[in-house]
Amino acid sequence: MTTVAVTGATGKTGRVVVTGLLEHGIDVLAVDVAVSAAARAEFDALGVPLTRADLTDYGQAVDALAGADSVIHLANIPAPGLAPAAHTLTTNTAMNDNVFLAAARLKLSRVVWASSETTLGLPFDVPPRYAPVDEDHYPYPTTTYALSKVAGETTAAHIAEWSGIPFVALRLSNVHTPEDYARVPGYWADARSRRWNLWGYVDARDVAAACRQALTAPVTGAQSFVIAAADTIMNRPSAELLAEVFPGVRLTREIGTYETLLGIDRAREVLGYQPQHSWRDAVDAT
Ligand SMILES: NC(=O)c1ccc[n+]([C@@H]2O[C@H](COP(=O)([O-])OP(=O)(O)OC[C@H]3O[C@@H](n4cnc5c(N)ncnc54)[C@H](O)[C@@H]3O)[C@@H](O)[C@H]2O)c1
Repeated sequence: MTTVAVTGATGKTGRVVVTGLLEHGIDVLAVDVAVSAAARAEFDALGVPLTRADLTDYGQAVDALAGADSVIHLANIPAPGLAPAAHTLTTNTAMNDNVFLAAARLKLSRVVWASSETTLGLPFDVPPRYAPVDEDHYPYPTTTYALSKVAGETTAAHIAEWSGIPFVALRLSNVHTPEDYARVPGYWADARSRRWNLWGYVDARDVAAACRQALTAPVTGAQSFVIAAADTIMNRPSAELLAEVFPGVRLTREIGTYETLLGIDRAREVLGYQPQHSWRDAVDAT
């Protein structure tokens, strides 16, 4: 039996990741600094121990992860602009450093963690060099949030080397839950409204699947993968959107009509990632 610590467990993505692990018979230790009475009741009902810990503190990180075999680390300030720029950088970096070093101290078998599509150059005020944008279109942080993820990936690479623990960074696209899909048609009138991430998104349930796959995939050292839906969030062909909004950006290969412009080929190949969910299953595309 394996036990996985999930940090950021009471957050938007964390809740779905925890549920997915339980559905697959994997025991969970949940960790978050935000533990409301409702969250406590929810996790009690799931039979999941929930530890309140501030992961910017190393001692709390070590304590919170003790007893787990591996960790899925999602706790962070999750976007630019939610906190002052320097605070986002120093807080996320402290959390990432502490969780990575705690994993090494506790000799966990693997670290899976949430990096971000923002490391690839979002919001593309400067057009991407090519599309689909893939893992090699890196590092282009334009915010301290993105920089915190780039710093995290660099730190992960070195701690992986020192410790021998495989680290898997998931460069998540914009996470959507089924409740978010009602807003999708509102994006369609203006092709520029979602150009900031090349019209990408990812369903939280597919993130949960990617996390599970990343726990056992044949990865050594530290590797990073773009995790996005298989399609864009728009109801127009992807090549047409690119030509209109980013004229001059070349396509490196043929793409499907609505195919994502955030390349997930490497995740498919190495992790076995296969997105199963689309807004198209929830909303009429016409
Ligand atoms: N939501 C997205 O679109 C998106 C896209 C790319 C990457 N990500 C990354 O995915 C992860 C999860 O994002 P989310 O959307 O679920 O965010 P969220 O804010 O819903 O969840 C993050 C959780 O981290 C917890 N947390 C924050 N500071 C903490 C601390 N000091 N100690 C312990 N816990 C702390 C919060 O309480 C929260 O529950 C983050 O790392 C985020 O950067 C999210």
